[in-house]
Formats: sequence, structure tokens, C-alpha cells
Amino acid sequence: MTLFTGAAAEFWLRWFHLFFGVLWIGHLYYFNFSQMAFMTEAEAATKSAVFQKLTPRTMFWFRYGALLTFLTGWGMIGHKMGALGIPATSSWGTIILTGGLTGTIMFANVWLIIWPNNKVMIDNATRTAKGEAAIPGVADLAARAAVASRTNTLFSIPTLFFMTAASHLPLTLSPEKSLVPYWCVFGILIGALELNAIKGKMGPLQKLGSVIHFGLLLTFALYFAMEFLAG
Ligand code: HEM
Repeated sequence: MTLFTGAAAEFWLRWFHLFFGVLWIGHLYYFNFSQMAFMTEAEAATKSAVFQKLTPRTMFWFRYGALLTFLTGWGMIGHKMGALGIPATSSWGTIILTGGLTGTIMFANVWLIIWPNNKVMIDNATRTAKGEAAIPGVADLAARAAVASRTNTLFSIPTLFFMTAASHLPLTLSPEKSLVPYWCVFGILIGALELNAIKGKMGPLQKLGSVIHFGLLLTFALYFAMEFLAG
């Protein structure tokens, strides 16, 4: 039975990758499509209950979903580029590294910004429920987590596009063209948006519709940059 032989190893990695990807991005979309708007309308006692009882659970599945998506994703890249010898400069390599790098930045945002800031919000809700003083600066941490979460929703659109395009929408790269101009465009666009996630303001990302429009715009900008600069 092929399913239980070494030949199916990459299939299993891909299946687990999808499973953990759905677990992660499902939570991300729940936060951004439903919970954020709910929290702006909820009363203080409801918000406190959400932080004390719901957030520890959602954050657990969210951050470990992100970790396992990241590990299985890079496992597949390692297998294809290492064992199978597919070059990073091929159509597959260029497309999968585009989606894999935006996905990796999203993973870093989860573990380095969203989770640490939510941990303080959970602690703050637990303390204030016991009548203790609020942790200073907690509102700033909540705002920072929200900008990073909105940025991840924006990045999820090109990530999913390039993830599925790698094998199903190949590019015809011109062998005489360098990929350096494409990766410079990628670095500038993604770097500017990530800098905003780390230090910037919510701005138009406040509206979910704008996040989706910017995500689509970024996807097409990267796709056209690939086609015109390297194709
Ligand atoms: C964290 C960084 C990520 C890396 C390094 C990564 C890497 C990969 C790799 C190497 C593949 C195989 C592509 C192929 O064989 O052509 C893949 C496919 C895929 N990934 Fe990811 N991925 C990441 C994040 C995500 C996320 C967040 C999702 C969300 C669900 C996701 C969903 C998918 C899907 C739907 C496929 C397509 C499978 C197919 O076409 O057969 N990935 N990914």
C-alpha cells in the first residue's frame, strides 16, 4: 500500500501541513473577521471573561498551529530542494520561497508580537478580576498585537496564493534574467508592511475590507513583478 511506504512521506508532510495551516489560519480569520469587532462592542465584564477563559485556548491552538505549519512547510522545502535537488531559482523555487517567506514572517509575528502581547492581556484580565491594579501600557500592547494580526491577515492572501501556485501555476522564467530585481521588489514591499506591523499604526488596516483589498493588491504586485522582471 503506497500510503505507508517511504514514497508517501512527502504526501504525509503535505497533509499535515494543510491540517496545521487550516488550524492556524482558521483562528487568524476568526480573530480578524469576528472577534475583533465583537470586542470593540463588548462590555468590560465580557471582555475580561474572553481574555481569561477564551484567549488562552484560542492562543494555544493558534500558536502551535503556526509552529507546525512552519515546520512541515520548511520540511517540504528541505525535501524538494535538498533530496530532490529542485533549485531555489526555478519557477517552483521562486514561487514557493515567496509564499514560504511571507508565511515565515507571519509565524514570527505570531510568536514574537501577537502571543507575548496577548499573554500580558490575559495576565491583566486575571489581575483586574481579582481587584488588583491594571498592568501599565496594556492598551498599547493590545494595539500592537492588533496591527500584527491585521498584517498577518493581509499577508495570508499572497501566502495562500503562492503556496498553491508553486505546483499549479508555473512561471516560464527567462534563463538570461537575474532574479535579484524581483527579490528587491519583494524585500521593499514586504519589509515596509512588516515595519508597520512592528512599529506603525493601524491606519487603513482598521477596516477588514481594506486588509483584503491590500492583500489582493500585494499578491498581484508580486505576481506581476515575477512575470515582468524574471519571466
Ligand atoms: C509558514 C511558512 C510556510 C512554508 C515554509 C510553506 C511551505 C509549503 C510547501 C513547500 C508546499 C509544497 C508546495 C508544492 O509542493 O508545490 C506548500 C503547499 C501548501 N501550503 Fe504551505 N507553507 C507555509 C505556510 C502555509 C500556510 C500558512 C498555509 C495555510 C493553510 C499553507 C497552505 C498550503 C497549501 C494549501 C499548499 C498547497 C498544497 C498543494 O498544492 O498540493 N502554507 N507549503
